[in-house]
Amino acid sequence: MSEKSAYSPGLEGVIAGESALSRIDAEHNRLLICGYDLEELTEGAAYEEVAYLLLHGELPTRAQLEEFGAALRAERNLPSPVLDLLRHAPADTHPMDLLRTAVSALSFFDPETRDNSPQANVRKALRLLAKIPLIIAAGHRLSQGLEPVAPHPRLGQAANLIYMLRGSEPAPHEARALDVSLILYSEHGFNASTFTARVVTSTLSDLYSAVTAAIGALAGPLHGGANEAAMHMLMEIGGPEQAEAWVLDALAKKKKIMGFGHREYKKGDSRVPAMKKVGRQVAAAVGDTRWIELAEIVERTMIAQKNIHPNLDFPCAYTYYLMHIPIPLYTPIFVSSRVAGWAAHVVEQLGRNRLIRPAHLYRGMGQRPFKRVGVRG
Ligand SMILES: CC(C)(COP(=O)(O)OP(=O)(O)OC[C@H]1O[C@@H](n2cnc3c(N)ncnc32)[C@H](O)[C@@H]1OP(=O)(O)O)[C@@H](O)C(=O)NCCC(=O)NCCS
Repeated sequence: MSEKSAYSPGLEGVIAGESALSRIDAEHNRLLICGYDLEELTEGAAYEEVAYLLLHGELPTRAQLEEFGAALRAERNLPSPVLDLLRHAPADTHPMDLLRTAVSALSFFDPETRDNSPQANVRKALRLLAKIPLIIAAGHRLSQGLEPVAPHPRLGQAANLIYMLRGSEPAPHEARALDVSLILYSEHGFNASTFTARVVTSTLSDLYSAVTAAIGALAGPLHGGANEAAMHMLMEIGGPEQAEAWVLDALAKKKKIMGFGHREYKKGDSRVPAMKKVGRQVAAAVGDTRWIELAEIVERTMIAQKNIHPNLDFPCAYTYYLMHIPIPLYTPIFVSSRVAGWAAHVVEQLGRNRLIRPAHLYRGMGQRPFKRVGVRG
């Protein structure tokens, strides 16, 4: 194969590794996680079960799930220097920056940071699953001049996150919607942040480094940051009345419509229907269907004009908004879920590691004579 024919900008279509964790079946519009249809998992499982599936390769039995839940609850604490870090961050620090740095700092206090055995990485993943929601909630409350709320002794991942943000238990429809979004966000193949985690791991670096780098990759608006950007866009549009004209104008100006398009799905993101369903339930429960109406017009216009469909970030954005989750927390919440997928990929990468080191096409100058600084002028 010639250099040029092997090159694909953005690595589109390039097979960059092997994985048993998920299969994107764009043809049948479905996503399989360790062989299970993700949409089916949203109907019958909680996020903890999917996280366990990713970390252990099998769904937990009831006893295993109880043990996993208890282990997660036992790890719901932050080393006090990490809490101090959150306390001393400027109030306008973006929660993704805070989370990235706090996760990196957690590595100082984990006695197993340098242990790359699969068992240690699964234990570290569990700690991250437990501690990331605390960082998100405590960081947010401190930025608002409020004290952190201690985790709830019984609530699961989704409900406890809302509880720690507000200090009161969420309504069932809110806990359910967040749980479904966490399941849908948990794993998605060789996306940019997961690939980042695998690249870092391939150097035999550690899980904290891989997750810290992955958070950095997820933050951008072309990846996880799209859920926040999509909500800002919906707010800028303002209402269903303006939606079609706004999209037509944006497209005429060659703007990207946030929360639309996907490298792997050209006929629609398989995760969207399940999220839309709970989004509609939340809208009905709070008695506000305006954002759904607005979103539907944006979607119809995008499909009619460009045949580009919404991705998961789009329904997540307005659903979180209807649940009064602060917009800058949308991408950190994505992290709180995807960390299970990242960790599973780290373990998988180490199981059959080879340094990830692609080549590039050189586009620069030919060789030229070197002149020392005085001679160069
Ligand atoms: C996700 C994304 C980066 C995928 O990118 P990609 O596979 O590299 O596809 P491209 O950006 O090359 O897009 C292909 C074409 O569709 C258009 N397109 C893709 N997504 C679009 C969007 N959201 N709004 C408007 N046009 C879009 C591009 O402008 C391009 O058109 P062109 O061929 O006329 O130049 C892209 O769809 C995007 O930027 N979406 C918005 C951000 C987002 O929602 N990200 C979350 C992804 S889960």
